[in-house]
Amino acid sequence: MSIALKPSEIVARLNEHVVGQDTAKKTLAVAIYGHFRRMASRAADSVELTKSNILLIGPTGTGKTLLCETLARILELPFVTADATSLAQTQFVGDEIEAILHRLLDRAGGDIGKAQRGIVFIDEVDKLKAPDGQSRATSGESVQHALLKIMEGAPVKLKDGRHIDTTHILFICGGAFVGLDHILTQTHTFGFIATQSNDDQKILERLNARIKPTDLLEFGLIPEFAGRLPIVTRLHELTQDMLVRILTEPKNAIYRQFQAMLAADGVTLDVAAPVFTQIAELAIEYKAGARSLRGIFEEMMVDVMYAVPDHPAIKRVTINSLFEPPKLSG
Ligand SMILES: Nc1ncnc2c1ncn2[C@@H]1O[C@H](COP(=O)(O)OP(=O)(O)OP(=O)(O)O)[C@@H](O)[C@H]1O
Ligand SMILES: [Mg+2]
Repeated sequence: MSIALKPSEIVARLNEHVVGQDTAKKTLAVAIYGHFRRMASRAADSVELTKSNILLIGPTGTGKTLLCETLARILELPFVTADATSLAQTQFVGDEIEAILHRLLDRAGGDIGKAQRGIVFIDEVDKLKAPDGQSRATSGESVQHALLKIMEGAPVKLKDGRHIDTTHILFICGGAFVGLDHILTQTHTFGFIATQSNDDQKILERLNARIKPTDLLEFGLIPEFAGRLPIVTRLHELTQDMLVRILTEPKNAIYRQFQAMLAADGVTLDVAAPVFTQIAELAIEYKAGARSLRGIFEEMMVDVMYAVPDHPAIKRVTINSLFEPPKLSG
């Protein structure tokens, strides 16, 4: 296992790949640090610390999956992603869960001990909510029941006869939870106090953004499931400024990728700052968070990428506007 990183070090590493979402980063970092601490305490045979699975709530394309994938990479822990909706569509939830743990074991190179310290990310758990008016035994609910068992910790028998104990596997669940904000505004009492101080406003915002377990129940999660996700953190809608930063700043930012691709053909790519703003504005209209950035950028570049290999004389590509053809020069 990699050496335990301090929470601040984990955040610093996350910052290289994920823009914004500071609260979620901090919460995850602290939880992961605790995850390592538990391993250490177990090894020293002292007080057993209980794990704290995490629920990430945030709109589509704002970095939930990216955060978890980045975490797994920097921590060098086995990590798998599963989709709650596909769990809900199968008749054999138990088999699906076994398959997820089997993938985790594969990622751990077949090492059970390593797999048992891994991270499982279950996306779209909000889709497991009980539909309004329908009460017991809907499929989403039975998946919640199946999941809560392994989230709590249980030995699961794999096809090859071996057992994998999920007690120390960290579960991170994610979902957009559309409609939760509406529930929040109805159940929270810290509302709409006119205040002069910026700090007061910040504290109010924090209290208002806090999600209570009861909010999750009202949304449609069963109490036992919600109860096994003691840490709830939110990701926020990305602002225009953040979208611009996503295009340019992360280690594998889209702009850098295209610069690298063209550099391989001996071409310098120069995109003017206002273009990134134009792309970000368009992405906001598409309402898919950062997810539409790549498509928009690719579309802007397609003629360039087509022409460059045929014209070795081109040494520089300059783009001054999303709505003007790129300038190719020697
Ligand atoms: N905060 C961010 N910083 C950098 N890139 C981001 C960020 N958010 C999203 N992206 C980019 O957008 C893509 C989609 O993000 P991601 O898969 O994390 O969304 P998500 O929150 O999991 O959405 P969904 O709810 O639809 O699964 C990522 O591959 C990444 O390139
Ligand atoms: Mg996702």
